[in-house]
Amino acid sequence: MVLLDGKKTSNVIKDEIAVEVQKMKDQGERVPHLAAVLVGVDGASLTYVGSKVRACERVGFESTLIQMPDTTSEEELLQKIKELNESKVIDGFIVQLPLPKQIDEQNVLNAVNPSKDVDGFHPENFGRMALDMESFIPATPFGILQLLERYQVETKGKHTVVIGRSHIVGRPMSILMSQKGPAGNSTVTLTHSHTKNLSEITKQADIIIVALGVPEFLTADMVKEGVVIVDVGISRVPDASKPRGYAIKGDVEFEGVSEKASFITPVPGGVGPMTIAMLLKNTLIARERQLS
Ligand code: GUN
Repeated sequence: MVLLDGKKTSNVIKDEIAVEVQKMKDQGERVPHLAAVLVGVDGASLTYVGSKVRACERVGFESTLIQMPDTTSEEELLQKIKELNESKVIDGFIVQLPLPKQIDEQNVLNAVNPSKDVDGFHPENFGRMALDMESFIPATPFGILQLLERYQVETKGKHTVVIGRSHIVGRPMSILMSQKGPAGNSTVTLTHSHTKNLSEITKQADIIIVALGVPEFLTADMVKEGVVIVDVGISRVPDASKPRGYAIKGDVEFEGVSEKASFITPVPGGVGPMTIAMLLKNTLIARERQLS
């Protein structure tokens, strides 16, 4: 079994990005600048956004964190997005999800300038991605493709089963893995809460991508020998023995499944760090598109 080490691979990618940033500096260009908008005080979101901002420092980007109270109205958030769209110095920005319930998520995502939409969540970018056109690929799917490619996992002609149809991971993943190109050319089955006999399907899979948010959902009896496992889940499960009072669990029952897998991502240290590295990569791309 080979561990698909997202921490190590993301560090390699960040080093590659840092080299490009240094080149920009050497040429007297402004370095890429990422902004993140966080509405409310959700603990997990605060952790994620903090990691994104720290990662910017590591590669030499400028970063701005905009925190807004959880009483923020949709109008106030849309005004902030307008400012960021018009800013001459912000190359890309994200609005951390989920948003408080008084705010319509789709209205917010639709308001982001597609050329600054480094999350790749705007309908224009999603549509362009689906049509193989230049776009921003959402960071988590982009990170998974990179991990598979850099570990030379064969995807061509393989049966990939995606569990979960979220707009952020499952749906784009199912499109990308069936496309031509690196980490593509797979035969894809997209499964979800209405799928019947899920185990029968997962047992036929060469590659399984689980993005459900249900801790330890995928168990050893559901997979075949030699399967490739990508675990996108990251849940906080109460655990009194841990200093923070919780443990981080993926969607895969790691101990059992890893005995059958040929490749598997750990949680933490698998897909999570790759997401952050690819958000930086998208921000670098946004800056480079301005320069070209
Ligand atoms: N919430 C969970 N994942 C993501 C992500 O990739 N981007 C943003 N903006 N919010 C998220």
